[in-house]
Amino acid sequence: MSIKRKLKVALPVAGLTVAAGAIMKQQNICPLCVAKRVLNATRITYKNEGRFENGVALTPPMGWSSWNLFRHRINEDLIYEIAEAMAKSGLKDAGYTYVNIDDCWQSSSRDKNGRLQADLATFPSGIKNLAERVNALGLKLGIYSSNGTLTCEDLPASLYNEAIDADTFAEWGIEYFKYDFCHNKPIPTSAPDIDKIIITKPNEKEGIVIEAETGRLTGKARVAEDSKLETGKYVTGLSANGGALIFDEVEVDEDGEYILTIGLRKAGLYQKYAEIVVNEKDCYDAYFPSTKGFTHEGRHQITIKLNKGVNSIKIHNPVASRMDSAIIQYTKMGKELKRATKEYAERTGQPEKPIVYSICEWGVNRPWKWGAGAGNLWRTTMDIKAFWASILAIYEFNVRLYKYAGPGNWNDPDMLEVGNGNLTDDENKAHFSLWCMMAAPLILGNDIRTFLKPDGTPDTENKIYKIVTNKDMIAIDQDRRGIQCRRIRTTLSLVDVLVKPLENKELAVCLFNKGEMAAKGEFSIRELTSLGFIDLPKAAVYEVKDIWENEIFTSQDKVSAELPKHSVKVYRIKAITD
Ligand code: GLA
Repeated sequence: MSIKRKLKVALPVAGLTVAAGAIMKQQNICPLCVAKRVLNATRITYKNEGRFENGVALTPPMGWSSWNLFRHRINEDLIYEIAEAMAKSGLKDAGYTYVNIDDCWQSSSRDKNGRLQADLATFPSGIKNLAERVNALGLKLGIYSSNGTLTCEDLPASLYNEAIDADTFAEWGIEYFKYDFCHNKPIPTSAPDIDKIIITKPNEKEGIVIEAETGRLTGKARVAEDSKLETGKYVTGLSANGGALIFDEVEVDEDGEYILTIGLRKAGLYQKYAEIVVNEKDCYDAYFPSTKGFTHEGRHQITIKLNKGVNSIKIHNPVASRMDSAIIQYTKMGKELKRATKEYAERTGQPEKPIVYSICEWGVNRPWKWGAGAGNLWRTTMDIKAFWASILAIYEFNVRLYKYAGPGNWNDPDMLEVGNGNLTDDENKAHFSLWCMMAAPLILGNDIRTFLKPDGTPDTENKIYKIVTNKDMIAIDQDRRGIQCRRIRTTLSLVDVLVKPLENKELAVCLFNKGEMAAKGEFSIRELTSLGFIDLPKAAVYEVKDIWENEIFTSQDKVSAELPKHSVKVYRIKAITD
């Protein structure tokens, strides 16, 4: 009797490669194509034009958000009490303006017109009413949705509803909008095969028929043959930003809305997408279902605007990767917000209220690379938690991204946890200082009602209050040059040296002991003045302000300090020139 023994490869990596190779061979999969697909998924081919500018968030936005502490336990009274506390406690005077409602404000169903509506029980007066009351306190209201079919708490969200939701927010008077990434559906990279297009006037039966093969082709777009189609020809090769089909001479006799019917060659058990660009400016989305119908030819209809005379219609799919998809989806919402606030102002004759647009896709698709073209700020990491390890990890990641931040467009290392959890006094100060050094948005996440005494006056002795209203620290964050600090050194004892150039050729320097033991930190001002990106003038003497001690001293060069674990020293330095 012969026993055949199967040899199981135990080596994990080699084993996997061998096994994967065998499976691929068995199933006729080309490994090179798989590798190419994986690489493509992490490639950005889409470019959004210019910077996202809407005249707001020229310094990092400051405010409060309901998520970090209250989660789903929110209602209109709580939000209003928070707004009142912001106004009365002195937070407003310190620069905090936005009162942001995070997830869980929505009803689980849209209204009969398809518009989002607030939870009918917990926000019975509606968001517009709340915004008006918050505005009456001299503050602004913010709201939240997701770039998905649902929010992270599985409530209705804005993907595919961008225009109607932006209109709703503009009408409500919203001035800050956080756009999350839960339940996102990436745009398919495949494009349909095009047989023809038909342009029809509403209420008319006859239209202009233009065969695809007569269009202009760019890139990999090409004419292919299929005898089952009427003309035997169609255009393919439009997938993954590969090419475009353009009809340059679509002539109509008057301005107006027309029906564009795209005739397809049905193929493929996968979803497809095409962007239709009319006259190089108006973009329309077209999603196509996976297909196994009986008929060979399919059709998709949208309403487009055409001008009297000659028009161009371009059909292509600009999405080659998941990153492209995220960029396009986030950029689209930003454009809708701008359009909606402008149109609402024009319609009502009121001054426009631009909406600060906060992109929250957790850094998954490297938003620092494209965020400045899409919105005012972009989360760079996963969610912050109210403990030290989380704050440190987020700092370590975000501090490297300094070159992407600037006025109007900021890296967002997430909302503050100052005053939440069991953070020590040193940790709270360090967290706040690091965020200010990184020119981060300062969105408080604690219960700011505790900043008021029972008689309604500010509790100026409250330790957390003192931290988050420190004027000198806030001035560093809000400096108009909008430069995010650079880390220039980490010592063996784990002390980081951070520098942030400020207005009037001043400089902020932060010594940060991120280690678990007390340590000494020091720097030489002269050495700093020789760094290319620092414009603090060379001088015989410098005036140095120790921000947390609120003390001013002079120095000719060296500054040093003993730092307990998890603590910072922050200095503001200027040259004494006379
Ligand atoms: C995500 C975001 C958080 C918060 C929650 C709400 O996790 O990153 O900041 O908005 O969703 O559900």
